[in-house]
Amino acid sequence: MSDASGQIDHVLTEDRSFPPPAEFTERAVFSSQSQYEEVYARARDDRDGFWAEEAKQHLHWFEPFTKVFDGQTSKVRWFVDGKTNASYNCLDAQIDAGRGDKNAIVWEGEPGDTRTLTYRELRSEVCKCAAALTEIGITAGDVVSIYMPMTPELPIAMLACARIGAIHSVVFAGFSSESIADRNNDAGAKLVITADGLYRRGKVLPLKETVDEALEKSPTVKNCLVLRRTGNDNVPMTEGRDLWWHDTVDHQSDDFPAVPLDSEAPLFILYTSGSTGKPKGILHTTAGYNLWAKRTFQWVFDHREDDVYWCTADCGWITGHSYVVYGPMAAGATCLMYEGAPNHPAEDRFWDLVEKYKVTILYTAPTAVRAFIKWGDEHVDKHDLSSLRLLGSVGEGINPEAWMWYHKKIGGERCPIVDTWWQTETGGIMMSPLPGITATKPGSCTRPLPGVIPSIVDETGKDVDPNHGGMLCIAEPWPGMLRGIWGDEQRFVEQYWSMIPGKYLTGDNARMDSDGYYWIMGRIDDVINVSGHRLSTIEVESALVSHEAVCEAAVVGREDALKGQAIAAFVTIRGREPNEELRKELKMHVRKQIGALAQPDDIRFAATLPKTRSGKIMRRLLRDVASGREVAGDTSTLEDLSVLAKLNDDEA
Ligand code: WT7
Repeated sequence: MSDASGQIDHVLTEDRSFPPPAEFTERAVFSSQSQYEEVYARARDDRDGFWAEEAKQHLHWFEPFTKVFDGQTSKVRWFVDGKTNASYNCLDAQIDAGRGDKNAIVWEGEPGDTRTLTYRELRSEVCKCAAALTEIGITAGDVVSIYMPMTPELPIAMLACARIGAIHSVVFAGFSSESIADRNNDAGAKLVITADGLYRRGKVLPLKETVDEALEKSPTVKNCLVLRRTGNDNVPMTEGRDLWWHDTVDHQSDDFPAVPLDSEAPLFILYTSGSTGKPKGILHTTAGYNLWAKRTFQWVFDHREDDVYWCTADCGWITGHSYVVYGPMAAGATCLMYEGAPNHPAEDRFWDLVEKYKVTILYTAPTAVRAFIKWGDEHVDKHDLSSLRLLGSVGEGINPEAWMWYHKKIGGERCPIVDTWWQTETGGIMMSPLPGITATKPGSCTRPLPGVIPSIVDETGKDVDPNHGGMLCIAEPWPGMLRGIWGDEQRFVEQYWSMIPGKYLTGDNARMDSDGYYWIMGRIDDVINVSGHRLSTIEVESALVSHEAVCEAAVVGREDALKGQAIAAFVTIRGREPNEELRKELKMHVRKQIGALAQPDDIRFAATLPKTRSGKIMRRLLRDVASGREVAGDTSTLEDLSVLAKLNDDEA
């Protein structure tokens, strides 16, 4: 089974398969398997020809590109010499296509206030903001940090930067002043755009105060533009530096032409947490990224003109960049945007929104799905979800049992689920079912999209056989790929391009099954080695989650003199007491599901698991806890520090 080559053992089997509903297939963008095979082969065998056509047809060009692709591995240029503008593609091009009066954004604030913006209205607001940025002195190539609540002004600010060629760096509005300052300094930001406050579970969080603290340590920042959102009193404004949005933006002209920008002009930087050390500023550029976001949106979400699409991600994450803003808007979609918490005023807020706005496509994260399961079916049952036709998942592997709940309870067994695998670095979705043609298997992101050539290798770089786990790489460049880590060429090359020569190293493990379906097995760093067997975290976790008492599970390895590593599992439970009996039961359950080899040695009951602010379980911290070590490394992305202290108490 296992050998020294670095292959991962695959231990959990999943036999369920769900073919797409016939109704879906009839009208789908991809409506037959052979169509997919053809397009996939074309993109692989005639890469430049394929992407030339795609780019000409799906982006607006002020000046045509002279060459489709130039470069190799880490250093690439797509659509060389072309001039385009992402804000133009998302706004002006939509109006030209007759969508001027179509809703671009349908927004609801946490307190229940609402706003809608048509594509024409959105363009006007973006133009005003672009004019204001120009007046403030922001020009092409300048970096603008955006630290805002999920109000329409957040995409407006992003698109205004894109319109003039400024590079936005959106910082999720839950980060600390320290994190904002780090990002301002790393990027050399000249301006910060923020708001007076943010609504979260009925409370107002003072964003401006947090930004002020950051600005004390951000010497490159000259100005701060402040949106009045919550209207809270006593917002500190520093004379000469701080400007109110309503004084600066509202009176500007609503027509500001988009600046023709080079295909490779930086569009944005987005910081992601490295597992250790300082966050990395992932750099994406204009044309390739915009094309990738748009086309993957159209393919995977099978977008139709009358869809009401809701991606629940915050614009502070790549999912918000690609699938709230640049993908759907370049495709002329109507996007629902919601500002607040999913459990305010009650645990049914999402389902209330789906019913009220007749959402047809819902794209959310496994961490949210697990929370809904925990909160109870009664919140879902109160609402009519029959408008939904497609569901999506992103951010982590979705445990098969959570997938089944999503399928039955939310999708009414009629909506395909697209489990989309991708990364901040990839710019957009890389592997996913195509909802009209792919028979889905719970827990698998199924197959690569056209233009994506995955390769699963062992430590020597050799491709492993089907049904063996190994390191997931991407063998060929694709338009949406990252172009660098801001200001750190060396880290960029070392992290992604050095270990496996000629290929992009994703940092994930994966396995391809006999049907050519891919199964993500977790991060390379998270593999557990028990007596020479290399186990993936997600398989053991999924076995635990398939027990009715377990809501969430995280497994990690801890040092063990005998076995090399022992398996420690952290679980949150429902409906049962955290006691020795349940511990035994869970161990036996995993043993039955997978085998003795994967039986956890320790089971710890936790009230909550440590997660990043984007909802991913932080196994790295749990490794320290499981080994009785002090938690080391960067904890700045941890959502709630108090979770760590509680973990040591065990008995939840
Ligand atoms: C990492 C990337 C993708 C945008 C949001 C997260 C994990 C993501 C899946 C999935 C299994 C997944 C991977 C990946 N991941 N989607 N469908 N199945 N794992 O972006 O913060 O850059 O994280 O998230 O480990 O490498 P990110």
